[in-house]
Amino acid sequence: MTTSGPTFLEMRNITKSFPGVRALDGVTFDLHKGEIHALVGENGAGKSTLMKVLGGVYPHGQYGGKILITGQEQRFAAVRDAERAGIAVIYQELSLVKEMTIAENIFLGREPRIFGVIRREELYRRAQEILKEVHLEVDPHTPIGNLGIGQQQLVEIAKALSHDARILVLDEPTAALTDTEVETLFGILDKLRARDVGMIYISHKLHEVFRVSDRITVLRDGRTVGTSATADTNQAQVIARMVGREVGDIFPVVDHDQGKVVFAVRDISVEDPAVAGKKLVKAVSFSVRRGEVLGIAGLMGAGRSDLLMAIFGAHFGRISGDIEIEGRRVNITSPAKAIKYGLGFVTEDRKRFGLMMDQTILNNMTLAGLRQISGRFITSIDAEAAAGERAMKDLRVKANSVFTAAGTLSGGNQQKVVLAKWLLTNPRVLFLDEPTRGVDVGAKQEIYAQINKLARSGLAIVLVSSELPEVLGLSDRVIVLHEGRMTGEFTRATATPERVMACATGELQRAA
Ligand SMILES: Nc1ncnc2c1ncn2[C@@H]1O[C@H](COP(=O)(O)OP(=O)(O)OP(=O)(O)O)[C@@H](O)[C@H]1O
Ligand SMILES: [Mg+2]
Repeated sequence: MTTSGPTFLEMRNITKSFPGVRALDGVTFDLHKGEIHALVGENGAGKSTLMKVLGGVYPHGQYGGKILITGQEQRFAAVRDAERAGIAVIYQELSLVKEMTIAENIFLGREPRIFGVIRREELYRRAQEILKEVHLEVDPHTPIGNLGIGQQQLVEIAKALSHDARILVLDEPTAALTDTEVETLFGILDKLRARDVGMIYISHKLHEVFRVSDRITVLRDGRTVGTSATADTNQAQVIARMVGREVGDIFPVVDHDQGKVVFAVRDISVEDPAVAGKKLVKAVSFSVRRGEVLGIAGLMGAGRSDLLMAIFGAHFGRISGDIEIEGRRVNITSPAKAIKYGLGFVTEDRKRFGLMMDQTILNNMTLAGLRQISGRFITSIDAEAAAGERAMKDLRVKANSVFTAAGTLSGGNQQKVVLAKWLLTNPRVLFLDEPTRGVDVGAKQEIYAQINKLARSGLAIVLVSSELPEVLGLSDRVIVLHEGRMTGEFTRATATPERVMACATGELQRAA
């Protein structure tokens, strides 16, 4: 790692409160030119809030403390002022306009014009150049809505590049990227570093933080715990600072008592709704027992989410194959039906399928949340309110009350609300797709403990995760998908990372 230049940006003694929450309590943070300074901390520690202060989302007057760039105090009245000062922020929740094209999104509000008229050719030509820089080989006329989350993330980066930012903030940039996309991103960061851009990198993936950053600052409960040179610290130390205690083994080995098969699928195939004849999932069969955790491993794009979505009645492509619940053939044509048959589904995209951001935690967990999916009431309102309170406590959702709006929660806490919501449907079979995406280590441990507890209570769980240690640490049995096909099956004893990866990349085929 290169050592970096003198202090460029300084945030001094920043405070920010929301009704009932002191999100930032005297945070000090600085950034040099040409360095990557990582900002880490548990869910709700205040990372995103600090970046919203820097980005002008919370204007001067709505926070305490000072922002200085090369010693000059900055008072941003709006996002535009921060942009003019050379600050670009890529927020955790992507903010692109789905209906507009890639190029329109990149230059939104800054379109090249002549006599007030947008020069469309110029717009698309410039967009194309920037897309090349981020290795996104798609037509800039493509509407954003047609892109996957990973590609949208790259468009956000392209947009930041188009600003010629001197300070670039990346809030959880790799949460939805494939390994190749992550490498592309790191390549871009290296180039920006060489151009003297200072970068603030927020992530819960500590191995990435250690790989890319020059310095690491830890926040806890809205306060700076400390800043170290990355070379002078290690993961265990950073984790201890984040959570304020030593974290033991995060995967307690538990034996689940397995009962009879509750759920089985045979020969499930799923067609790509966009490309006729192309199969995303090819004749996959599996079964799960009561009390069993079945892990589905595979690389991004292997068809794991398509498989679960299809079974749940939430896929737009053509589906074939059989589904059996407790030995009975069922026909699931919609998520409402799936819920009726006792399936629950924590999806990877919490914005689209998981949460209504403007609704309270309680509404999300209970009535409104379920009605949106199932079109009907499940149980009585009072019972659910009480259950909602209990679920919030059980999962340790960090919020003032169940009446807090879901959109104001930190990312990891939002994920816990989604999980709680599904548990309240009392499912027999629970699908978990990337259940800990964007979740900090402490909360991960809690979610793992919950998964084990649910399995012990007899629930059958199907788990998809791109974090291999998570799949191997929780599952009694693992199946592996490669390009839509099942290439391996392992028991807990036989599932080694090497073997599972070999099946995931298609090098190896293996039966249990
Ligand atoms: N608009 C808001 N209204 C009320 N409270 C808020 C708002 N935004 C953030 N908070 C609260 O401020 C605290 C800090 O949240 P923040 O989003 O900054 O955490 P974070 O460190 O980014 O967490 P994560 O890792 O989960 O993204 C949390 O308690 C959160 O609930
Ligand atoms: Mg955040």
